[in-house]
Amino acid sequence: MTTTCSAPGKIYLFGEHAVVYGEPAIACAVDLRTRISVEKSDAITISSDIGTTGLDFDIHPYVSAAIKKLGCMETSIKITSDIPMGSGLGSSAAVTIATLAAINIEFGLGHDSAELARMGHEIEKEIQGAASPTDTYVSTFGGVVEIPSRKRLEIPGCGIVVGNTNKGATPKKTARLVKQVATLKEDYPEIVNPIIKTIGSFAVKGESLLQKKDYCSLGELMNVNHGLLDALGVGTAELSSLVYAARNAGAFGAKITGAGGGGCMVALTDSPDEVASAIEAAGGKVIITKFTSKGVIRE
Ligand code: PMV
Repeated sequence: MTTTCSAPGKIYLFGEHAVVYGEPAIACAVDLRTRISVEKSDAITISSDIGTTGLDFDIHPYVSAAIKKLGCMETSIKITSDIPMGSGLGSSAAVTIATLAAINIEFGLGHDSAELARMGHEIEKEIQGAASPTDTYVSTFGGVVEIPSRKRLEIPGCGIVVGNTNKGATPKKTARLVKQVATLKEDYPEIVNPIIKTIGSFAVKGESLLQKKDYCSLGELMNVNHGLLDALGVGTAELSSLVYAARNAGAFGAKITGAGGGGCMVALTDSPDEVASAIEAAGGKVIITKFTSKGVIRE
């Protein structure tokens, strides 16, 4: 028997970086998925675009850690993914959660979704040193979620376009940028603390705007959020160039998503094709996607 599970990636509508200091954020599952097929075997093999290995914490760290966490079952695992790696879209959470779920089903281990999300978060912490539970939670349960309350919010009825700068995707990028913001905060607390507080306030306002389906105002606040992320020093010229291209093509709003320093931006729009062309013309790699309520599922 083969069990295939898939889990989604995510974007931040508001609040990355500020969420590290306990401020609220809104994260959304997007319809870009990582698929994991698991089959019982007489040895552990893990196959992906990068190659085929056994339990290997250098080449396949998240899948290896998931196998280990569930008791090192002898299994053959195949990975395919729509999510670019290390670019702020939650690729590591998606691969971890889909692996945990597929092994859980194939071997009849009986863990529920909350346990899978908790184990996924532990794995991200083990491998990255520090990680917020956002990515693994959203990948497990899908939808639009306020962090840290885990309140589920209305799913926007408009499109999203992701623009990838194809720059800066290193495994340690998030940790480096979180540290960089911490240093700025220590050096200038009276200036940086209010910025972080203001970033937190977008999620509060965003909740009611989502309810009212007021995508124009949501977009406007995404633009303000982008400016403040830039102020925190996590923007790049390439990211801003894609953000401005999307806005000029009529997007409701556009901002960095995730840690920044390269990686991806996201635009909220009713005209995804126009916005996609503009991002492409500005040098970005485009992904047109949509919000999804589907977390990890068996396929
Ligand atoms: O780039 P990502 O998807 O790893 O997002 C990082 C988000 C931060 O708020 C900067 C860090 C965190 O753990 O919440």
